Order: sequence, then structure tokens, then C-alpha cells
Amino acid sequence: MIIEPQGGGLGVVVAEFTAATASDEDVARLRETVYREKIVLLKEQHLSPREFLDLGRRFGRPEAYYQPMYHHPDVREVFVSSNVEEQGRQVGVPKTGKFWHSDYQFMPRPFDITLIHPQVVPRKNRGTYFINLAQAYENLSDELKRAAEHTRSWHSVRRYFKIRPSDVYRPLSEVEAEVEKETPPSSHPTVVTHRFTGERLLYVSEGFTYALEDDTGVERPALLKELIAATGQSDPTFEHPNIHVQTFDKGDMLIWDNQSLVHRALHTATPEPAVSHRVTVYDA
Ligand SMILES: [Fe+2]
Repeated sequence: MIIEPQGGGLGVVVAEFTAATASDEDVARLRETVYREKIVLLKEQHLSPREFLDLGRRFGRPEAYYQPMYHHPDVREVFVSSNVEEQGRQVGVPKTGKFWHSDYQFMPRPFDITLIHPQVVPRKNRGTYFINLAQAYENLSDELKRAAEHTRSWHSVRRYFKIRPSDVYRPLSEVEAEVEKETPPSSHPTVVTHRFTGERLLYVSEGFTYALEDDTGVERPALLKELIAATGQSDPTFEHPNIHVQTFDKGDMLIWDNQSLVHRALHTATPEPAVSHRVTVYDA
């Protein structure tokens, strides 16, 4: 296993990792690297959905997405993001995640680790934006750190819930009521402690976090806006120093620390074919 730092910024590249023959020690070292470096890019993987799930399982307990329309037809724990039809039918869901979020942030327990294995890679404009929320917390002014302390933030999928084919002709109010019932908002402290690294994280996202309340239960919308802006998630140019762009090639696999990072997919206005597989796990 060779680990070489990328040209500055977040993450490392790992070459010569072979999923089929990796020892438990290799995987443990890889997991440590994910938590320390936040993003690991494995080269030359080419795993089938089943092999991909088997690798994910070595990092923790895989969780199938709560909505079946995202499931791979053969392996339900593999989430499919795709704008390519297969034999005339849509498999998975197109244009996923084009907003700042962490995976399952709107659930009581967000995932610990996300693994992405791109299958069809666009020639240009491919990649994912990332922001390290531990770094974002560190960079806050003392005043903002104090203001965020002892507050809670509320997260919901409602702004980005995708209408399903089965929702056509349903009243929007009925769909909205169902979203609120099936995925009620979750709250987490605004400043959370990473379960494995002990880092302090400013746990807010532009896509899912809709409210912040102080310790007396009073909503503080201006503070939430200020904190999100301080992380870099309000920057429409994506030039904020906290933002890291991670590109990938065919055969790559991205593994990231989903507690520490918010991410946002990079989709072009005129989309090229793109397919990627995802496995998400709870580590202990
Ligand atoms: Fe995501």
C-alpha cells in the first residue's frame, strides 16, 4: 500500500490496494487514514456492485438507502446515481447531491463513512466539492465559536427531497406531509465532537440545516446564516479557501469521513453520461 499526499489540501491517494487480498490490518490502516486525512482516493479498483459492498462491509455496517428508487437492482445496499438508461429504463436517480450536505445528515444518525465508486465518468467537469467542518470550526473567530456553543441545529431533507415517479399527479401537500412523517427533522448540537478523532466540528450544511436554536429554544436565523457562510458553503464561485475539489478517473474509489465533511456534487448544465455507485456505513 503506497500513500502519497496530493498537491496540498485535503486527502491522499492510495495505490496498489487490492480489495480481494487486503488483510484486516490493511483495512484498519486505511480506515485510520480516512479519519486522519478525511478523503482517500484508491486507484485501479474496478469492483462489481457485490465486490464493492463486500469492501464497504469491512469498514462498518452498510445501510441501504431508505428510498428503494436509489437501490442497485441486484445489490440494494449500493446506491446508484445515474443519468444513463439501461435497456430503456432508469436505474438509480439522476443529478443527486447538487447541494452542500453530509450523507444522512437529516437522520438521527448520519453515516460515518461514504465510499463512492464512479462507473461512467464524464470527460469534463467531473468531481465533488468538499469542506472539512473541523477546519471550518478551527477557522471561526472566537466570537462565532462562543455563539455556536450550546446551540442545536435542525436538519431536514425537505428542501431536496426528489419527487418520485410514483408521486406524479399527487397533491404536493400530500407528498410534503409524507416527507415530514417518514423523515422528521433531526437535531444535533451545532458543534459536535467527532466520535473517533475527538475533533470539534461545525455541523451545519447549506442544503439540510434549516434552523439553529440557542439553549433557551429561541431560533437564531442570522447566526445560522453567518456560520454557514463562514464555512464557505455560501460561496457561489466555489473559490472559498475551505473548498476542496476532488476529481476522479475511471477505476477510482473515493472513501471519506462523512462526519467531518460536507460535500456537493459537481454536475454540468448540459450533462454528460455519469454513473456512480455508493456504499455508506456505520463504523461501530
Ligand atoms: Fe452525498
